Formats: sequence, structure tokens, C-alpha cells
Amino acid sequence: MRRTLLDLAHTKRVVSCEDGDRIVLLRVADEAALLPEAATLFHEENIHLIPYTLDLDYDFWTVEDIFQAILPENLLEGAPAGFATVGHIAHLNLNDEYLPFKYIIGQVILDKLPTIKTVVNKLDNIDNQFRVFAMEVLAGEKNFVVEQSESTCTFRFDFSEVYWNSRLHTEHGRLVDTFRPEDVVADVFAGIGPFAIPAAKRGVAVLANDLNPKSYEYMLGNIRANKVTSLVHAFNEDGREFIRAAARRALESPLPAYKPHRSLRERRSESRTTPGPRAVSSPLGPPRNKIDHFVMNLPDTAIEFLDAFRGILSTERVGELDVKSVYPDAASLPMVHCYCFTRELESDKAEMDIRERVEKAMGASLEGEVKLHAVRRVAPKKDMYCISFRLPVSVAFAYV
Ligand SMILES: C[S@@+](CC[C@H](N)C(=O)[O-])C[C@H]1O[C@@H](n2cnc3c(N)ncnc32)[C@H](O)[C@@H]1O
Repeated sequence: MRRTLLDLAHTKRVVSCEDGDRIVLLRVADEAALLPEAATLFHEENIHLIPYTLDLDYDFWTVEDIFQAILPENLLEGAPAGFATVGHIAHLNLNDEYLPFKYIIGQVILDKLPTIKTVVNKLDNIDNQFRVFAMEVLAGEKNFVVEQSESTCTFRFDFSEVYWNSRLHTEHGRLVDTFRPEDVVADVFAGIGPFAIPAAKRGVAVLANDLNPKSYEYMLGNIRANKVTSLVHAFNEDGREFIRAAARRALESPLPAYKPHRSLRERRSESRTTPGPRAVSSPLGPPRNKIDHFVMNLPDTAIEFLDAFRGILSTERVGELDVKSVYPDAASLPMVHCYCFTRELESDKAEMDIRERVEKAMGASLEGEVKLHAVRRVAPKKDMYCISFRLPVSVAFAYV
């Protein structure tokens, strides 16, 4: 009967009647239209079709179906089909022409998506320092504290007070995957930790900074909740100061040595196979005092902070600490991963534009390894990129 049964999403195919009978709903209206296998069954079992009225009410229709039904015809094309979700919040960015319908749009989304408890609309472009935008609640409760998972970590934060963008999920994962577990990373604009905490989960030691006191507070909570307290050291200062101090901090107070992560199963099997006292996981190598990567995700202005790298390893910054044994040659200097926007939409021109701005800000040309990664198109004529390059010797040791 399978090919003859009614096949509608969210709709039962067997309904109970008041007299205790049950009715199987088919997708045909008269017996002549039955498929041969169903017709045979009808004949053998002496089954007959009866008419049945099925009401497809509000619960049946999808968000898109309802928008198609309630919005004026001229607005159907761009109806808000996709929206970002952050924890229990659905987050819209409605164009002006949809504003007269904003509350009903919000209510439909709230009604239809069981995990959504709050629907908000973005009120302005994020051009404030902490990249937080004002928003209006369209439907549901006025609760902005969300829990969001990303890369096996959980993050708790107030979406109205700190920066978060679920669309960066893949980019966070991409960059974190380029780190070796034994590396040390300095995250200059760390937000609430979406690079720092997943990296630490893989063994990386991190200095993580954000100027927004709320981001810093939530980052501390997330560090604790994800059990990476020994590996992530958090700071709440301006990015420029943080860059200037990071190398010295790592030299003065090294981060814990890399300890390979072993699963419970590995630890158990080891204690079974190793006779004598229980094996204790031992760190590999000495405490970590060398920064391997700087991450700078503040695409609007990160390039303007690059001048802060001038002289980070100079005597003026690190004093008498033994820099030469930690950073013996050009290849040992940190990689800088700097996010930025460009209005050049062709990749060659984008590369030239970004490279030029980076070199100008640092006051030196980029030597050797430079990689450009296209992150995403953020507006019709604006792309987001990540430029990764090794800090030039002339910059790191510049006289300041
Ligand atoms: C685009 S968000 C990126 C956050 C996080 N890294 C991520 O990928 O989601 C930029 C962050 O930089 C912080 N910020 C803005 N200006 C800063 C400054 N001068 N120094 C340090 N942090 C700053 C903001 O508070 C915000 O959390």
C-alpha cells in the first residue's frame, strides 16, 4: 500500500474515529485510480474507499508557506526565509519594506520552530567598537542569554552585550585546525572565545584578549565551563597593548607544557597493560614561552593594529629576556592571521589591496610565506578575508 498512502509532512496516515475504528488515508479519490497492488488488496480484503476531509490548519504549514500566504505579493520574493539562530534566539535583519509586518513574521517563526524562544530584529549596522548591535524583540521572551555549541565546546553569553556570529563557525574551525596542539596562540580580539577555547581543547595554550568587559567576563565563564582553565589566560585590554605585551608575557610566565590528551579508554588500557604504579600522563617538553600565532578577528580595523607588532621582540619591549634562543631565526617568528574586508571582488585585486594595506600599516614588506583565505561575502560588494603571514624580522625586532 506504500505507494498509495497519503504522504504529507506532519500528517498522520492513520486516524482514529469516534466509534473506535481507524481510517487509513490514501492519496486517491476514487477506486479506479488505485495502483494495481492496492486494487488487488482492496479486492481480496473487501475494502472500500470512503471520503474523508482533512483540515490542514496552521500547524501543518511551514514558515515559508505562511509567509507566502500572509505577505503582500510584492514582498513574496525576498520573504525572510533564512535567518541566523543563536541558542534559543532567531535573529533577523529585515529590510525596510518588511517592517510593517515584523511582529507577525516574528510570531510565525516563534510558533513554528520549537527550539526558538525569542525572535529579534537587528536595528542598526554594527559600527560600534564592540561589534554589538541593538535589537528589537519581535516575539517571545526578552532573554538574550544563550547557550550555543560550536566545535564540541559550549558557549554561554548575552547576545545583546557581546559579539557572536554563527556564520563564522567554519572559519573558526578552519583556523584552529591549522594550529599544532603544542603551539601557543595569542588571540587579540577573542570575543567570548570561539577560537581560543576549541584550540585549547586540542592542547594549544592561548593568551586571549578582548576589550569588552562583558566579553571578557563571559569568556572567563566559558573557559571554566569547557575545562581549559590552565591553558587559556584571559585579558581585558586594548588590542594594541595586548600585542605589545604578548611575547614578553609568554617569556616571563611560560604557559603549561603540552600534554597529549588521552581518552579515558586509552588511560584505562594503559593502566591494564603497564604493571606497577599507575601511569601518569607526562608533559612533552618544557613550559611554552614562544608565541606561534596571533589571531586578529576584527575585520573592520584589525589592519590598523598591525603597527603594534613593531619591536615586540626588541630590548625595549622584552628587556634582558633571552629572545634569541626562543626565536632563533625568521622561520621561528609568529604567524599573524589578520581578518579584513575588501571591496575588491576579484581575488588578484583583493590580494593586492590587502597586502598593500598590511605592509603600509606595519611599515615593512611581507617576506616569504603569505596566504590569503576568502572567508565569505558580507555584502554585495564586500568580501571578508583572512591574510596569514609570518611576522617579518625587521618588524619583530624594530627599534621602538
Ligand atoms: C568581530 S569580533 C570577533 C570575536 C571572536 N574572535 C569571534 O571570532 O567571534 C571582534 C571583537 O573585538 C573586540 N574589540 C573591539 N575593539 C577592540 C580593541 N581595541 N581591543 C581589543 N578588543 C577589541 C570586540 O569586543 C569583539 O569581541
